[in-house]
Amino acid sequence: MGVAADLSHVASRAEVTGYEGPDKLEDCLKDSQVVVIPAGVPRKPGMTRDDLFNTNAGIVADLTSAFATACHKAMLCIVTNPVNSTVPIAAEVLKRRGVYDPRRLFGVTTLDIVRANTFVAEAKGLDVNKVSVPVIGGHSGVTIIPVISQAVPGVSFKTADREAITRRIQNAGTEVVEAKAGAGSATLSMAFAAERFVVSVLSAIDGKRAVIECAFVESTVTEAPYFSTPILLGRDGVEENLGLGSLLDYEAKLLQSAMPELLANIDKGVKFAKERY
Ligand code: LMR
Repeated sequence: MGVAADLSHVASRAEVTGYEGPDKLEDCLKDSQVVVIPAGVPRKPGMTRDDLFNTNAGIVADLTSAFATACHKAMLCIVTNPVNSTVPIAAEVLKRRGVYDPRRLFGVTTLDIVRANTFVAEAKGLDVNKVSVPVIGGHSGVTIIPVISQAVPGVSFKTADREAITRRIQNAGTEVVEAKAGAGSATLSMAFAAERFVVSVLSAIDGKRAVIECAFVESTVTEAPYFSTPILLGRDGVEENLGLGSLLDYEAKLLQSAMPELLANIDKGVKFAKERY
């Protein structure tokens, strides 16, 4: 309730209401058009996102189940890690409840794009507000695949610099976890990124055209059943998956190295949900 009171003082057109406790969950979700799940525990130094699975998987499954009851036609945006597994968990819960619409379920990977834009703009002395670097794949370590060759405006890097900036983008979450030294993971940059994604989803619902964001969605673009690529958003969520585009050999190799971990993460989520529900 404290957070609700705090937020309610922000000068915006938004009305803020607070709900507390599992009993109020369905009231809270009722009539929502967009639901964002950031709940769960964060990493500590030395942990991978997958190490959060045991705690966060159940939280996402329970919240998705309430979503299925209260507002299954809404867009469901999942921030909770490990995103590579929590999105498949949500999909399985929704399937089980007979209300799954793959166009409306998103893993929020926008922080990877935000970081890629920031690091590339810094390296090249560009205005970050005019830089756009797609990041595809998943949201952990090697599954984060920056596609710097498709950056707008075009940028060129020596091989060693391209590799270094790619590694930095892949490890940027860990950079924050280590700097916070046990006090959690990224919150402010994550809030910035999630706000960007949610505003895009809302604008598309409102009829704005040509809204594109990378997001981790059900996909047939690669062998992975969920994969992040640029998505054209529309009134009903995913309007068109814009696919991989052309990749440099280096980026194609990153994709190859990502696949085993990504497939294992997805599989783990699907198995968990199938066993639980
Ligand atoms: C991030 O990328 O910062 C988040 O996924 C949190 C984390 O654990 O790294």
